[in-house]
Amino acid sequence: MKKYILKDYEEMSSKAADIVTSQIKNNPNSVLGLATGSTPEGMYKHLVQRHKDGEISFKDIVTFNLDEYYGLSSDHPQSYRYFMEDHLLYHVDIDPDNVHIPDGLTKDIPEMCKNYDQLIEEAGQIDLQILGIGINGHIGFNEPGEKFVKGTHLVDLTDDTLDANSRFFKSDEQVPARAITMGVGSILNAKSIILLASGKNKADAIKMAFEGPITPQVPASILQLHPDVTLIVDEEAGSKIKGEKNE
Ligand code: F6R
Repeated sequence: MKKYILKDYEEMSSKAADIVTSQIKNNPNSVLGLATGSTPEGMYKHLVQRHKDGEISFKDIVTFNLDEYYGLSSDHPQSYRYFMEDHLLYHVDIDPDNVHIPDGLTKDIPEMCKNYDQLIEEAGQIDLQILGIGINGHIGFNEPGEKFVKGTHLVDLTDDTLDANSRFFKSDEQVPARAITMGVGSILNAKSIILLASGKNKADAIKMAFEGPITPQVPASILQLHPDVTLIVDEEAGSKIKGEKNE
């Protein structure tokens, strides 16, 4: 595993954007796995700027998002589709047909999940998967549990996650209790993975995930089995793991 412990959020964001930029330049038809949340916002800002500067094009890029709240329509300001449109998709030259985000309003969950996995397979799997991490060690919305789940599925969000997500909603009652997430199987099938984390509230999750045992109680710990993972954290999130500060 490659590990970058960088000064702050800005350095983390720009390092992550460098890796995505190289991926796009090396393979303009890349399949990217995308995450939402506060962590990758800075990275998306850089990518939008680099697109505006003419450095990268998303014309032939294909994307698959990790997850979506169950029950939120795509035009709900807290839906992950809305987030992606706002932070990346509306600002770059991506073909809307190449954008995939689980449908939070699906009437047939098993069918939608099966199709999502099939589309990822047909696209030839994900070339570069971008991940954040929950304070409980979740990746996507694969929450701590008794076993790892391979494919896309519906999950009940844990209290920790509901708590963390509530900062985006006006009241706790509005926070969706369920979500549809890619499983750890599709995440592990990605050819390369970058995981970003920032802030001291992520330090324990990073330590448990990368220096603890591999267990479904800490879903991100399964990344220890992947041959090409790059961890990019700021000093606070990396404060409990071994390693030199990288420039
Ligand atoms: C979002 C996702 C989640 C987040 C995680 C951290 O698509 O997959 O796993 O990455 O909940 O969220 P933030 O970045 O808001 O701390």
